[in-house]
Amino acid sequence: MLFRLNEFLMAVSFALDFVEMDILGMASNHGKRTAYISISIAKEMRLSSEELHDVAALAMLHDNGLSEYSLHEKLATKELKNVALLEGVKEHCTIGERNIKNYPLLTNVKNIIKYHHERYDGTGFFNLRGEEIPLMSQIIAIADALEKTFDLQNNNHDMQNKVCEFVRNQENVSFSSRIVKAFFKVTEDKMFWMNLENGFISIALEKRIPKHSLELSFEEIHGITNVLSKIIDSKSSYTQRHSQGLSEKAAIMADFYNLEKEEKMKLIIAADLHDIGKLAVPNDVLDKPDKLSDEEFKIIMKHPEYTRLALQEIKGFEDITEWASNHHEKLNGKGYPRGMTEKELDFNSRLMTCLDIYQALTEERPYREGLSHEKAMEILKSMMENGFIDTKITKDIDYVFSKLS
Ligand SMILES: [Fe+2]
Ligand SMILES: [Fe+2]
Ligand SMILES: [Fe+2]
Ligand SMILES: [Fe+2]
Repeated sequence: MLFRLNEFLMAVSFALDFVEMDILGMASNHGKRTAYISISIAKEMRLSSEELHDVAALAMLHDNGLSEYSLHEKLATKELKNVALLEGVKEHCTIGERNIKNYPLLTNVKNIIKYHHERYDGTGFFNLRGEEIPLMSQIIAIADALEKTFDLQNNNHDMQNKVCEFVRNQENVSFSSRIVKAFFKVTEDKMFWMNLENGFISIALEKRIPKHSLELSFEEIHGITNVLSKIIDSKSSYTQRHSQGLSEKAAIMADFYNLEKEEKMKLIIAADLHDIGKLAVPNDVLDKPDKLSDEEFKIIMKHPEYTRLALQEIKGFEDITEWASNHHEKLNGKGYPRGMTEKELDFNSRLMTCLDIYQALTEERPYREGLSHEKAMEILKSMMENGFIDTKITKDIDYVFSKLS
């Protein structure tokens, strides 16, 4: 399909915004502001339209390694909810680089995210010096540094002066003269500072990114969504392989039903992304060991709707959006968030619901082993008998996975 990269990028950034919100406890727009400053500088340096697209995408994604790192190192504690501190760890650069390996870029740049904390004088994480640092990394580095060091949202002359003074002082220390010169050119645009404010940043950024499409197969798109599923899974230590496991099971059932290749790939992509809305649920709620309060349960119940919001803007993703967002709906109308009924739920939506339950029950959690196939099927069958889930699909899952367990 003709894949509109910008639409996808916006969906990804929508999701990443929530990760920031969770790590930092607020909507920081860190990725977006970094991207806006980066693309402005890159434009000033006359990078090509393809390069501008890539620098914006990479800048938006530059800290995608943070959530995984903070989770694994249990850094997401209150006192470390500070982007500057979290970013002070080298691993988020290598994890971030690895995660975007299959992301569709338009130019052949490499290691841009890996080197986004390098400094011109060679004192960065990897001690690259001067022009050894890829140009896009240099651009993202200055944008990131300004975003982290200053409260750009609070737009006033005092802040602007401080930023400019900092950039001047860092010439040939953190940043090259070329970059510094381009930055000052950028600040001549009267709209530059205002566009960085929370109320303007999303639209300003979207407008500035050149529109590009790529002809990608659903298989190639899966190469990207597979990475996203890892970012989604790594949000919570309770669900470390949930989306990936669901995706594998969706593939098995698609083969069992002899689905066409394209439909199979769409189903797999839907499984990759079905819980992308969970990125919007705070970890305090997701990882709560005790019973959830009504309020907290209401927050959890919103996650499929956030999945819909993130995916529905992507043209060509209509089926995927539907199958991904309906995974907690039930045939008898007792599901969430929409309370859809039998008539509204197509086969693949029903399949996703059944598989999601089966996956959740059989996967290992920190506080319990995964249930055996038989135990899991007892629960699915009782849901089937009570009209919650599809009878045929439940029986098929029993048949297919009893052989594999
Ligand atoms: Fe960083
Ligand atoms: Fe950053
Ligand atoms: Fe879910
Ligand atoms: Fe799920």
